[in-house]
Amino acid sequence: MMKFQGSHILSVSQFDRESVARILDVAKRMIPYASRQKRCNVLEGAILNNLFFEPSTRTRVSFGTAFQLLGGFVHETVGQESSSLTKGESLFDTARVISGYADIVAMRHPAMHSVAEFAEGSTVPVINGGDGANEHPTQALLDLFTIEAEMNRFNKNIDDLNIVLMGDLKHGRTVHSLSKLLSLYNNIHLTLVSPKELQMPDHVVSALDNAGHKVTITDSMVGNLQSDVLYQTRIQEERFASKGEADMYRGHFSLNKSVYEQHCKDNTVIMHPLPRDSRPEANELDVDLNDNNNLAIFRQAQNGVLVRMALFALALGVEDKLSQYEREVTWFSSKGN
Ligand code: NCD
Repeated sequence: MMKFQGSHILSVSQFDRESVARILDVAKRMIPYASRQKRCNVLEGAILNNLFFEPSTRTRVSFGTAFQLLGGFVHETVGQESSSLTKGESLFDTARVISGYADIVAMRHPAMHSVAEFAEGSTVPVINGGDGANEHPTQALLDLFTIEAEMNRFNKNIDDLNIVLMGDLKHGRTVHSLSKLLSLYNNIHLTLVSPKELQMPDHVVSALDNAGHKVTITDSMVGNLQSDVLYQTRIQEERFASKGEADMYRGHFSLNKSVYEQHCKDNTVIMHPLPRDSRPEANELDVDLNDNNNLAIFRQAQNGVLVRMALFALALGVEDKLSQYEREVTWFSSKGN
């Protein structure tokens, strides 16, 4: 198992199966605190610097929420234009300075491997919140947490699952990280549905092949969506040379009630890292599925708080002190009580 305390979390390649199990286990222990049934100020006095140099809603806010739920203080920097990176400062120098102001950093940046470059200069643990089209390790962990939780309803676990990943598999960092994590499990059948030009990168497919999983690559939904989990993605418009180029691929694999009923199993669980592109020309995941109990997208987003709380606790070495710092809530929350 990896040593968590003091470590950066940059890529899912750092994890073995035991380390993932440890993270998911600590995440489950966060449920009472995340739902505000109990308080746990184990990180009181600690500072998170949330550095987001690319748009984000869920990832940034859930990192911040997770840290605050453990009693810490969050400092936010949003957008490159508000930092000295626009004055030519290197990521190394920015990291050396910022890490002097914080105990841990969560960072998102549009360039591949930029978070690792930043981590070189940091004196505190750095967590990758997405580096360009490369990786999104915390999303993959929350996706795995969600798959495990959803499959529990059907008495299944991650081994032996049939999983479809659909959409922009070339640029989607969430599906890159998730596929690599899944390769740690046994006997998965992964079906990769995308336009030919937006196929999963070879190195990710090889990792799955080498681990003995069955991989089907296709550009057709017909006959290919009979899975336990269908993970839909957005065309990553910001990674194309022009909006016009991205437009060519929008709307190809739209999932709606009629497609679901025609092509999926009765209980195929639908996931999506969000945001879903709801503009009519894209509409990759129609709101007419909102009432389907197998639509797990909002439970999935919620699980992000638990997993990020777990990563903070592990990286700062307080995961075994949770119960010691636990106390009753002092106000009544209609959500938690
Ligand atoms: C994803 C991302 O930023 O990679 N969003 C997220 O973090 N939940 C997916 C996307 O933007 O399409």
